[in-house]
Amino acid sequence: MISERIEKALNRQLNAELYSAYLYLSMAAYYEASDLPGFANWMRVQAQEELTHAMKFFDYIVQRDGRVTLEMIEKPPEEWESPVDVSKHVLEHERKVTSLINDLVDLALEEKDHATYNFLQWFVAEQVEEEESAGELLRKVKLASESPASILMVDNELGGRVFNPPTDEKGE
Ligand code: FEO
Repeated sequence: MISERIEKALNRQLNAELYSAYLYLSMAAYYEASDLPGFANWMRVQAQEELTHAMKFFDYIVQRDGRVTLEMIEKPPEEWESPVDVSKHVLEHERKVTSLINDLVDLALEEKDHATYNFLQWFVAEQVEEEESAGELLRKVKLASESPASILMVDNELGGRVFNPPTDEKGE
């Protein structure tokens, strides 16, 4: 059983993860329209990952006898100025998600909900990776941004990213 406060906060995070998937899908659409299929692929994979994050919250709420409530998902932006602009947005967004996860951890501690605290540790670790890969993407895109040939090389590289679905019961 989870408290009402925790249930509400977990549902809010479920919505935030779905928004993340929506945002990255919108970035994928932007890149498809910009003829950069590799960048689009990277964003599609990112969107798939976000859906697995959302489902982890969904499953955990159900497991704890809570009630999943789906709210409206905010409309994401559709246009960016450049690949650098998109990559900056990705990093900013992941930093924001990290702070949301940290707030949830604080709430779990406040409510003395150790099981939820434990569940959230996967996300604490995941956000370190999310910020790292967003930062790496931004560095690469910044370096390549002055030359169309370099952007095409990065596009080629990003086209190789594949989605790895969670393999064990913890989704790791
Ligand atoms: Fe679900 Fe990119 O954090």
